[in-house]
Amino acid sequence: MSSSSFPTVGRAVVVSSYGGAEELRLAEVPVPSPGPGQVLLRVRAAGVNPVDWKIRAGLLKEFLPVDLPYTPGGEAAGEVVAVGEGVSAWAAGDEVLGPVAGGYAEYALADAAQLSAKPAGLSWEAASGLYTSAETANRVLDLLKVGAGETLLVHGAAGGVGGLVVQFAVASGARVVGTAGAANHDYLRELGAVPVSYGEGVFDRVREVAPQGVDAVLDAAGGALAGSVGLLGGPERIVGIVSVPEAVETGTRFTGGGEGESHGVQAVARALALHAAGTLALPVRAVLPLADAAGAHRLSEEGHGRGKIVLVP
Ligand SMILES: NC(=O)c1ccc[n+]([C@@H]2O[C@H](COP(=O)([O-])OP(=O)(O)OC[C@H]3O[C@@H](n4cnc5c(N)ncnc54)[C@H](OP(=O)(O)O)[C@@H]3O)[C@@H](O)[C@H]2O)c1
Repeated sequence: MSSSSFPTVGRAVVVSSYGGAEELRLAEVPVPSPGPGQVLLRVRAAGVNPVDWKIRAGLLKEFLPVDLPYTPGGEAAGEVVAVGEGVSAWAAGDEVLGPVAGGYAEYALADAAQLSAKPAGLSWEAASGLYTSAETANRVLDLLKVGAGETLLVHGAAGGVGGLVVQFAVASGARVVGTAGAANHDYLRELGAVPVSYGEGVFDRVREVAPQGVDAVLDAAGGALAGSVGLLGGPERIVGIVSVPEAVETGTRFTGGGEGESHGVQAVARALALHAAGTLALPVRAVLPLADAAGAHRLSEEGHGRGKIVLVP
């Protein structure tokens, strides 16, 4: 292992049993050493995702089991402080972003091969929440195969995932209609999408703004799959990322990652190319201290807002 100096103990959020947000407690824990192929990061910011509170509440025990106690957090941005055996791509001091294990902490381990360099012009906060949204957006668009000139409908377009799907699709020449609350309509217009309010009558409103028809649908909000099958006349080009049972009931495709579908580093590169061109919008909804991880989860559980929630150690 090669490294700069780092302490043997650091602060981390620890969950000891499944339950409410009050289960997220700050503790002093040993700082782990990177194994072969791993990197140890000093976390500068950690992305908070809806899956984090779903895991904490015990809702995903069957799909994503965790060994209690555990530290939540699947993505972060930070500085490399140590690299494990066989890692030559990164060195102490490098600024990186990507998936991590236990990101709600001062120090976290990452798989060296899944990290990307953080551009100097991207804030730690925005960088920390990029990986999950970009990877999911890229995966969904690969499955939907939305071509230039086609029309994509995105339910939940103002969220972390929805925002990246809209921007990737617009950049590749697609027309995008996105559903969001009224407070996010101007934001969606800025991203290049046509905004539509969700709720009763949503599919009539979509037909009004897309009289040419809709070619493909992402449901990133949940609850919109059956109506989307009606809109398209079949389930073939509809992907859901929220509910497996809803996908099964409607004959649509659910994607949850893994299974060889994920190309996270390429997805981040796709987003960073937009950043380099000066066109990437990565709004940060809220930045909270590590000690208020419970507040971050409560905010995420509300399910409304624009962009990412971030924790800073
Ligand atoms: N399967 C996977 O691989 C995968 C990966 C990542 C995320 N996910 C899941 O995908 C979902 C979205 O994740 P995220 O990170 O984008 O969440 P997020 O950032 O919290 O965004 C949620 C968005 O949903 C919008 N919304 C709420 N109710 C809606 C409705 N009825 N119709 C349309 N939009 C609605 C909100 O916008 P307003 O403020 O305008 O209401 C908000 O912008 C979560 O359930 C998450 O667990 C799955």
